[in-house]
Amino acid sequence: MGWTVRVCSSVEDMRVAVSPIWHYFGRSAPSEDQLESLARVLPAERVHAAWDGDRVIGGAGAFPFELSVPGGRIRAAGVTVVGVLPSHRRRGVLRAMMRAQLDACREQGESVAYLWASEDTIYARFGYGMASLVAEIDLARERSAYHAPAEPLGQARLVPLTAAEPLVAAVWERVAAVTPGMFARTSAWWQARSLADPAWRRRGAGELQCAVLEVHGHSTAYALYRLNPAYDRGVATGTLDVVEAMGDSPESTRAIWRFLLDVDWVARVRAGILPIDHPLVLLMAEPRRLRLSMRDGLWVRLVDVGAALAARSYSTADSVVIEVADEFCPWNQGRWCVKAGAVERTNAPADLSGDVTALGSVYLGGFTWAQLARALRVTELRPGAVARADALFRPDIGPWCPEIF
Ligand SMILES: CC(C)(COP(=O)(O)OP(=O)(O)OC[C@H]1O[C@@H](n2cnc3c(N)ncnc32)[C@H](O)[C@@H]1OP(=O)(O)O)[C@@H](O)C(=O)NCCC(=O)NCCS
Repeated sequence: MGWTVRVCSSVEDMRVAVSPIWHYFGRSAPSEDQLESLARVLPAERVHAAWDGDRVIGGAGAFPFELSVPGGRIRAAGVTVVGVLPSHRRRGVLRAMMRAQLDACREQGESVAYLWASEDTIYARFGYGMASLVAEIDLARERSAYHAPAEPLGQARLVPLTAAEPLVAAVWERVAAVTPGMFARTSAWWQARSLADPAWRRRGAGELQCAVLEVHGHSTAYALYRLNPAYDRGVATGTLDVVEAMGDSPESTRAIWRFLLDVDWVARVRAGILPIDHPLVLLMAEPRRLRLSMRDGLWVRLVDVGAALAARSYSTADSVVIEVADEFCPWNQGRWCVKAGAVERTNAPADLSGDVTALGSVYLGGFTWAQLARALRVTELRPGAVARADALFRPDIGPWCPEIF
């Protein structure tokens, strides 16, 4: 093998540990600014690196997150900056880093790991299941009328990024607390990432703008966006790219989107990471004009099946017994009886069986047991078990993570 995996012990270590993924970003290593920004939210000891002598050939990090799950919040690993140099690919480096990372999560009591995958073929072999879909829209602004006129609500104002945190963080927190898939953003996260606007983040687009909707003196919605002005023979052809937008009520969500859809000199409004059941679909007079497309969103791995299942809420007083197969984390294998307030191993006959990836898919509520059964991803061993499991696992709201971390 010739190489070993170990965690970083300093920011300097981290600089080299993330260099494999930076290679794919088109650079040899992060700039000082990029490294400093990363180090503010990613502790060095949460970054694994594969060393070949004194050279790093692969790296993988895990943000220490508080993740919202149906009915609560849990500590979870937000897997990030995973990369292996092209000179060392397909030799098992990623596999070794995934092994070390999941073992570390387990030791630290993080019962779930989750991520955005650069390619959908990579992570299922390590037990990650596709856990949500995300929607992208590309809407001609002139076709953006709502199906019914809305009473104006509150006052939208543009806020300098330096003054935005208290206004936007309060809204994020209210939405995150009830939306599976969102994580609690720390002040460091807001400052180093969400509200930071260095040139390297712009990728040719305009500056990061922040609009806040205030109702009776309180922020209830916000939007972060960039303008990309362009003209063709004097006609505006530019775009408004929504970075993130949310409101803490249906009315404030409708109002902040109206604000975005009404910005002048914009031909198209684009947004890339919306929940697939975003209210816009039903708000629009011409939903087809959203040109909505979908792709895989979050991937979830139950690191400790018992603890992860016990940490979320359930919608009925029923119980189901699930036989879980888990080759990569064999401590999860076996039969689990799942019911509200008690998830435990059992010898009782199983109602359903499936791979641990299936649990990842249903965990946040992004997919149902019925969908998995129709795709032959789980087996119903007792008639009616799929319907019972779906009633039990049904969340109030589907998963959404507004940010690719
Ligand atoms: C994806 C990447 C990390 C894989 O690293 P690697 O060290 O080559 O992976 P491994 O050798 O450990 O492969 C483990 C298994 O995954 C498979 N695999 C790895 N990457 C794959 C890919 N992109 N597509 C399909 N299968 C893949 C391997 O074939 C191997 O399969 P096996 O266990 O059946 O033999 C690496 O190619 C890379 O850095 N790619 C560019 C950056 C990237 O996509 N990072 C992920 C960000 S989310």
